[in-house]
Amino acid sequence: MHKNKENKVLDTKLDAVSKSLKQSIKNLDSYTHVRGESLYVDDVNIRQGTFHAVVFDSPKAHGKIKSIDYSKAEALDGVERIFTYKDVPGKNEIGGIIPDEPLFAEHEVHFWGMPIALIVAESEFIARKARDLIDIDIEELPVITTAQEAKAKGSFINAPRSFSLGDTQKAFQDCEYVFEGETFSNGQEHLYIEAQGSYAEPLENGNIKVTSSTQGPTSVQKTIAQVLGVAMHKIEVDVTRLGGGFGGKEDQATPWAVMAALATYHLNQSVKLILNRHDDLRMTGKRHPYESTYKIGLSKDLKILAYQTEFLQNSGAAADLSPAIAERTLFHATNSYYVPNVTTKVLSCKTNLPPNTAFRGFGGPQGMFVIESAIAKAASEIGVSARQIQEANLLDENDTFSYGQIAKKVEAKNTWNSAKNIFNSDALEQEVSDFNKNNTAFKKGVSFMPITFGISFTNTPMNHARALVHIYLDGSIGISTAAVEMGQGVNTKMMQIAADVFSVSIEHIKIETTNTTRVANTSPSAASSTADLNGKATLMACNSLLERLKIVAAEDLNVSENNIILKEEYVFVNDNKTELSWTDLISSAMLKRVALTENAHYATPEIHFDKTKEKGHPFAYHVYGTAITTTTIDCTRGTYEFDSIKIVHDYGKSMSEGIDLGQVEGALIQGMGWMTMEEIAYNDEGKLLSNALSTYKIPDIFSVPKSVEVIPVETNGHELAILKSKAVGEPPLMYGIGAYFALQNAIKAFNPNYDLKFHAPMTPEKVLMSLYS
Ligand code: MTE
Ligand code: HPA
Ligand code: MOS
Repeated sequence: MHKNKENKVLDTKLDAVSKSLKQSIKNLDSYTHVRGESLYVDDVNIRQGTFHAVVFDSPKAHGKIKSIDYSKAEALDGVERIFTYKDVPGKNEIGGIIPDEPLFAEHEVHFWGMPIALIVAESEFIARKARDLIDIDIEELPVITTAQEAKAKGSFINAPRSFSLGDTQKAFQDCEYVFEGETFSNGQEHLYIEAQGSYAEPLENGNIKVTSSTQGPTSVQKTIAQVLGVAMHKIEVDVTRLGGGFGGKEDQATPWAVMAALATYHLNQSVKLILNRHDDLRMTGKRHPYESTYKIGLSKDLKILAYQTEFLQNSGAAADLSPAIAERTLFHATNSYYVPNVTTKVLSCKTNLPPNTAFRGFGGPQGMFVIESAIAKAASEIGVSARQIQEANLLDENDTFSYGQIAKKVEAKNTWNSAKNIFNSDALEQEVSDFNKNNTAFKKGVSFMPITFGISFTNTPMNHARALVHIYLDGSIGISTAAVEMGQGVNTKMMQIAADVFSVSIEHIKIETTNTTRVANTSPSAASSTADLNGKATLMACNSLLERLKIVAAEDLNVSENNIILKEEYVFVNDNKTELSWTDLISSAMLKRVALTENAHYATPEIHFDKTKEKGHPFAYHVYGTAITTTTIDCTRGTYEFDSIKIVHDYGKSMSEGIDLGQVEGALIQGMGWMTMEEIAYNDEGKLLSNALSTYKIPDIFSVPKSVEVIPVETNGHELAILKSKAVGEPPLMYGIGAYFALQNAIKAFNPNYDLKFHAPMTPEKVLMSLYS
């Protein structure tokens, strides 16, 4: 309680200061990015004699390993050694939530691309050549590629989870309308620009330092220690930045770091392991495909009285983060709507695909797609627009989510109504309908997409962070946290916080690399919570230092410390500038032997969740917004363009408007890609067919909407958000779902007999078929 109150006071004080910075600040990385000076794993200066490694992986999706002949590969000139599960000194186990995933396959393989061995050689080229010389004999076993097949065979990762509110079965009986149906949403490739990779180097006494492109340095450290059978303090993990993660490096950066460390452990030499794009695409998991069924019941006045779903999550061959992702699907199953009677169930289905993993939205988008499909279906059957149903059911203050949390500071209706007013949606809908009356070869469709996304790791114990702040004796500042910069701009936000508190220019501040020896036992940079958690810790540490410095200044100036403020790198007394500068103040503090280092710990207050009851208050707060999407389809070709996306988004009080706008735009396009064009394809043998950018299409400059407008909603922000600036990383991805339904509406305008289909992505091929079905 006490901590909470303290934060509140500080946040209010900072409101004023942060205003000036928030509009002007650019993402700090933009300077080194455009000059090509930003450092990634591949840029680490390597030691003389460093070895290079390549992973040998399974050429079949399921089977027993009968024999492997490494002799020709080992004999190749320049090959140092080949490591297998037999070389693991500790546990051959990397599963983060459930211990069900070996680092290297032992006697069986469970997916195409499953690591079997690590080839270490003088160069990557030689290691690749050696890989081609390995002979493997696999006795094939039946392959499961779809969730439904897994369900039919009883192949699951864990026990199902189910949330319920009210009495769904009874409520269906009171409904005027009841509709049922099924949906499919495909996976999605992360396609971070920087592929997975790591560099391990031996230090003295058997200690190992690993540079990894990971969102979760502590899980890398922990897993290396477990696999090597050594204590965690022997392993140091360091991250400068990632060339994108998008969830794909929350868990799946780990194996490559572990393999490099394992080779270093044995060879006492540095080892570099960076996957090339083909290897990365084949060996790593993606967003989970979902096959789902729904039943929705409405009253005569379009209130959703009852909603029931079964989500089949295609988890792949091991748990990875699937159980946590499944949980978030349930949390977001009713999106921005209040539904009094809900029964949702999710089954994590074990298949022979690479273990699917975190991807921006973390199961939330898959859940929301289903209720939006159910609403579209109901609207089409009843003969109203989906917008009417959506509007009639938007979440209100004090409504209860199916997981028991009471909705507070709700902006669902605010963003919805603001979007309608600001963008004059009535006129827009009229234009679209006029266009459709006057055109036969082209049709337009418009959709509304409200979003509500919960902020916090759904696993309550993960919501904590620390910050270590040094003020050096020349007045410059170094900040270490667990935050991993992956393009989302979190380092810039950390720097802004310190600049605000000390009122010094950002030139005085450096954000250090993310390193397990400086900040330990950390949660990954994920769940959109990185800036909130690490930012609050940074704020606390900086404020402790500030209080200390004020005492120094008060002594030096012989005034009460209550009259002191730091402004523009000078000490002010009662708003009068003194001669005491920031650097003089620091010198004085040094002479007085005042500690200029502070470590602070922040743990999100208020949140809790009871898994035995599936009830609680898991989220610090929710982020809201509404998108209005307009598309035009070419009815001869099935191709389409997005005319405009108009968004009213709940940033709270954004602390970095440019960065946050970038997050909204990027997430939106990523979500649209998932919904409209990105088509992961495996064949029945479990082989990835979309294994290159020639067969996997992501949005490019030609496919982005002709216009994207994003307007901040008027709101007071939230105390649990850093400086009231709400988490922004994931929520806007779900605006992309609107693209799917805009297309459906356009198709319907051309083909009134079209029976809506909920099978994403809605590629031009599918549009064309639907126009004439
Ligand atoms: N933005 C960029 N440019 N690159 C990324 O990898 N990851 C997204 C989002 N935005 C990502 C990104 C995901 S999945 C998450 S969870 C958040 O950023 C993580 O950062 P945050 O917690 O600081 O928002
Ligand atoms: N979001 C993202 N990553 C996570 C979560 C979550 O809720 N829980 C565990 N890892
Ligand atoms: Mo984001 S999917 O939580 O890394």
